[in-house]
Amino acid sequence: MTVTLARSEVPPSQQIESLLPPYDAEIARQTDAFYARVEDHVSSHDWPAMGRRVHAIKKLQKEQDAVILAHNYMPPDIYALVGDICGDSLALAREAAKSKARTLVQAGVHFMAETSKILCPDKRVLIPDTQAGCSLAASITGAQVRELKSRYPNVPIVTYVNTSAEVKAECDICCTSSNALNVVEAIAAEWGVDRVIMLPDEHLARNVAARTPLSILVWQGSCEVHEQFTPAQVSAIRRRHPGVRVLAHPECPTEVLDAADFSGSTADLERWVDDHRPEQVLLLTECSMSDNLISRHPQIEFVRSCNLCPHMQRITLDGILASLAYGRHEINVEESITVRARRAIDAMLALPDPVTPADFTRPAHNAHVEVVS
Ligand code: 13P
Ligand code: SF4
Repeated sequence: MTVTLARSEVPPSQQIESLLPPYDAEIARQTDAFYARVEDHVSSHDWPAMGRRVHAIKKLQKEQDAVILAHNYMPPDIYALVGDICGDSLALAREAAKSKARTLVQAGVHFMAETSKILCPDKRVLIPDTQAGCSLAASITGAQVRELKSRYPNVPIVTYVNTSAEVKAECDICCTSSNALNVVEAIAAEWGVDRVIMLPDEHLARNVAARTPLSILVWQGSCEVHEQFTPAQVSAIRRRHPGVRVLAHPECPTEVLDAADFSGSTADLERWVDDHRPEQVLLLTECSMSDNLISRHPQIEFVRSCNLCPHMQRITLDGILASLAYGRHEINVEESITVRARRAIDAMLALPDPVTPADFTRPAHNAHVEVVS
């Protein structure tokens, strides 16, 4: 284990209250402009409580030179009010690497905070709740990757960014859902091989395998949120909402992608909605994605049939406030792990961005897949 996990704590309400300014005319004036960003979700009655939190967070951020990196699955109060940089996991990793701030607060899950720490070992990286994990990251250990390496010595190992630092340290290159197909094809070309091990998401790996001539060796991990979507659910929604456009994250099973109109990372889904502006859209991914897009596209009807990620949901405004106020919970990654994991992340960041999105819409064919777990 590379990181010492502190016990998760929900900050007691008196502790939070002591950090908040009274909602007086001055605080109202300073936070009024923020209310417009969330008025679809937050009543004017509830705003003062939120406005006080936003004010306190912004003040602490300034004092501590802190930037808040918010994943696209953060709820609108975090995404629209305090996220300085919002995006998918690839964008957050790139921005962490570029950031000049002294502290990074990761409004996302643990592997994202670890990735930021690996890219910025001299910065203080905080995560508001250390229990914000990920079923994919929990599905494989460094020892299991070492065992695979001895079984398949001449096969490159690509690891999804949704893994622990220890797993990344054992792999040749990282990928995210934005660039998985490109990364797999690039590493196979570099090694001159026609087989690649792709860890740990079985669905993402099968979705890549269906769109490349390469053989993909897959691990049987899965995302507990995306694996729940089914083609039957898509058919039922299409019957109820004829004309609805269906977009799916590639962590969904292959049959779900086959039933969708487009598939890509959270950033690709967002871009697709921005570019196509359909009348009705269904996003087969975490629910907050639709909540965050609605404020930009009030004219689009977002058909709701989504799932919540229990790990992402652990991050709250109060947690972020306590994180800044008390410096908790600081992420540390052992130096030897950092050096090796960084090589895998840097190898990914050095590749040019895909010209087109991950292109899971490319026609699927009979995939060459072998299960290795
Ligand atoms: P993105 O890379 O698309 O942001 O996805 C991360 C994630 O955890 C999806 O479940
Ligand atoms: Fe992990 Fe799935 Fe949650 Fe993303 S949505 S953080 S892959 S459990």
